[in-house]
Order: sequence, then structure tokens, then C-alpha cells
Amino acid sequence: MTRIRVVLGVSGGIAAYKACSLLRLFTEGGYDVTVVPTAAALKFVGAPTWAALSGKPVSADVWTDAHEVPHVRLGQHADLVVVAPATADLLAKAAHGLADDLLTTTLLTARCPVVLAPAMHTEMWEHPATVANVATLRSRGVHVIDPASGRLTGADTGPGRLPEPEAIFAVCRELVFPETHSGLAGRRVVISAGGTREPLDPVRFLGNRSSGKQGYALAAVAVARGAEVILVSANVALPVPEGVTLVPVQTAIELGEAVAKAALGSDVVVMAAAVADYRPVHYTDVKIKKSHDDMAADGDLSAPVIELVRNPDVLAELVASRGSATTPVIVGFAAETGDAEHTVLDLARDKFVRKGCDLLVVNEVGVDKTFGQDTNTVHILRRGVDAVAQAGPAPKVTIAATVWGVIQDVLSSG
Ligand code: CTP
Repeated sequence: MTRIRVVLGVSGGIAAYKACSLLRLFTEGGYDVTVVPTAAALKFVGAPTWAALSGKPVSADVWTDAHEVPHVRLGQHADLVVVAPATADLLAKAAHGLADDLLTTTLLTARCPVVLAPAMHTEMWEHPATVANVATLRSRGVHVIDPASGRLTGADTGPGRLPEPEAIFAVCRELVFPETHSGLAGRRVVISAGGTREPLDPVRFLGNRSSGKQGYALAAVAVARGAEVILVSANVALPVPEGVTLVPVQTAIELGEAVAKAALGSDVVVMAAAVADYRPVHYTDVKIKKSHDDMAADGDLSAPVIELVRNPDVLAELVASRGSATTPVIVGFAAETGDAEHTVLDLARDKFVRKGCDLLVVNEVGVDKTFGQDTNTVHILRRGVDAVAQAGPAPKVTIAATVWGVIQDVLSSG
């Protein structure tokens, strides 16, 4: 199979270092990537870094290997050109057709989808010149991603941050697989992500290792495919994908209430969150001290016992409240370690029957597996279908795209 050819342009902004992670996402996803930095980008990240990460020689000018006419060939043969970060200067050159280095000549010769991910200070992004350049580029069909808001290079904050590499990758992936683009337009989807925390006292909680990366990747892909996305997020320290409505929660009970409310009138609910099955029966609003423990005071060092009570099963309640209706499509996740007698898939099949959802995305988990990682491997079980779809190992955003592919199939067959 011919690999998809991507030109990754990098212009001269401090966010150039983040393009290294974007490059990794492409190479791990099996794409053939040529990096084309500008001379200014090379002041931030050197050519050896790009060459080592892409496995290809790197040049910023049109004179290296001139016999191969790179200023025309790269753009003509690319399936996708993405520039991240795109500085105000790069946007201005692209809008006006200037072509004085390898990246700008490539932009003029490319006939494939072009994605520009701007990053600059807020004043530059909001300047009428930049606003006009972005409008011109968009009117020509260039995909200019809105920058994220947040901390900029100095102490200042505002719109102008480069979106996270996963979010840029999700947009790019959608463009090179155009059959999936807009596949969720007009759909309202609810995604739970992260891990709930069950408070014990003001400083302690019972929690889990979920980072929220897979749930956030699902949200980024859904929004890129045109869905209205409500992200019920439990204790996640990740930037929120542009265009997503965030509902922050902490505990299983809060998560259950938020998901049940958002699910009304939705087309899909994806329960990617790791929800605590139990919570402490007692919450004390002062910190539990060793001195409160009578036994410790007596010189007996046995530890206090934390009494637990079951939390509601949010997924099972969603299935029950849907009754015989076909929407929303309900997707569960299963975190399994397997045990001496059962494989991960054995346990997942039992859980699928127990939960009664339409799809179950099965992860093998462990301290170094899945949690907090950027890649994942999953099996997808579908009600009424014997075959098990598999995805990965792949970036979580690629896994998200596969999961949405299966969900879209269910939506169109229902
Ligand atoms: N889930 C939920 N409410 C809970 C526990 C889990 O909605 N109280 C959902 C999770 O969001 C996930 C699915 O149920 O989509 C399976 O979660 P998992 O932790 O793998 O399974 P449990 O139901 O907790 O079963 P067990 O702990 O026995 O593996």
C-alpha cells in the first residue's frame, strides 16, 4: 500500500518544538513525512532533530538537490501539507503567494488539502492584517485552525497558542480520509473522560490512573467530523479541543448526573471515563489525623478502616433508561488486566453482556499500559456481530477515528 505523503512545514515560532510531537504522531501512524522548516524555524529546532525524527534529509532552501526540483516536486506529490506552527509572516506570505523558500514554494505548488495551524501573540493574531490574510486563505479552501487560548511565550495569556499536536493530527487525518469528513454533522454526542475522585477528607480521595487522553481524542475527532460535542470531564489536565462544550465533574455521582442530563436528546453517549465503583461512606470535612485514631494513641499502629459503598453504574443506568429506543447509541469502555483463568477478551465479553451497551471498546490496562500513554490498542465488540474489530497499537487519536468509524456504522444501520 502506498503510504500517505505529508509535508510538515514548520515556521519560526517558539511552538516549533511542539511540531516534533506532531511529527511523531504522523510517523507512528504510518505516514510518509517530509519536514520543511523555514530558516527561522531552524533557529528554534535544528535540522538534525527533524531528520532523525522523520528519517529523511531536511532542507529549508530551494538550492539543495536542485536537480530534483524540490520546490515543485514536494508540493505536487504531497497528499497533505500541514504547517505547524504557522507564524503571522508565513500566513501573510501564503495569502499573497510569496515564494522565497522551500516551504512557501511548496504551498504554491500543492493541490492537496492544506492545513495551517497558526501560533503567535494575541495582538498579532487579532491584527487586521492577519485577520484579512486568514480570511483570504480560508476563502481559497485552506484549513486554518483557530489557535487555542492560554499561556503564551511570556507571562501573558490569550488566543494564539498552537493547538495540541493531537488536535492538529485529528484535523489532518480527517482531511486525508475525506470519506469520513463531516460524517457526524448534525449529531449530538456526549463523551465522558478522565477518572472520578471520591473524597475522603479535604486532602485525600480515592482515584484512578486515567489521564483522559483517549476520551479527549474521541472528542477532538468527533468535533472535526462536525458533531456537537459535550465532554463530561473528570479531573483531566489536558487542553480542551476547540469547539467542545466542557462539563467538569469530580465524583462518580456528579459524572452520572451530568451524563444523564446531557444524554437527553443526544445521538451517541461514549463512556470513556474510569468511574469509581465505590466511594467512602463517610466524608470528614476536617483532615483525618493519626491523632484521631484511638488505637494509634494507644500505641497500636493498625490503620483505620475505610468503609465503602457502591456508586451507581452510570453506563448500566443509561442502557436501562433508554429502554427499547435505539438512540442514543451507547458505547462502553472496558479496562481489563486479565487474570490467571481469563484473557482480557473473555472478561470483556462477560462485561459486554452484563452492561447491555451497543459497543464495548476493550483496553488492556496496567501501570505502563494505556494509562497516560499516547498510544493504545483496543478491541471493539459490537452487539449482534461476532467479529471483533481491532485497532492499534496506534496514537489515541487514530484509535478514536476507528471507534467513530464503527459508531457511524451503527448510526447509519439503525
Ligand atoms: N462505568 C460506569 N459506572 C461505574 C463503573 C463503570 O458507567 N460505576 C462504565 C465505564 O465508564 C466504562 C464501563 O462502565 O464504560 C466499564 O468500566 P470498567 O471499570 O471496565 O468496569 P466495571 O463496570 O467497573 O466492572 P469491573 O470493575 O468489575 O471490571
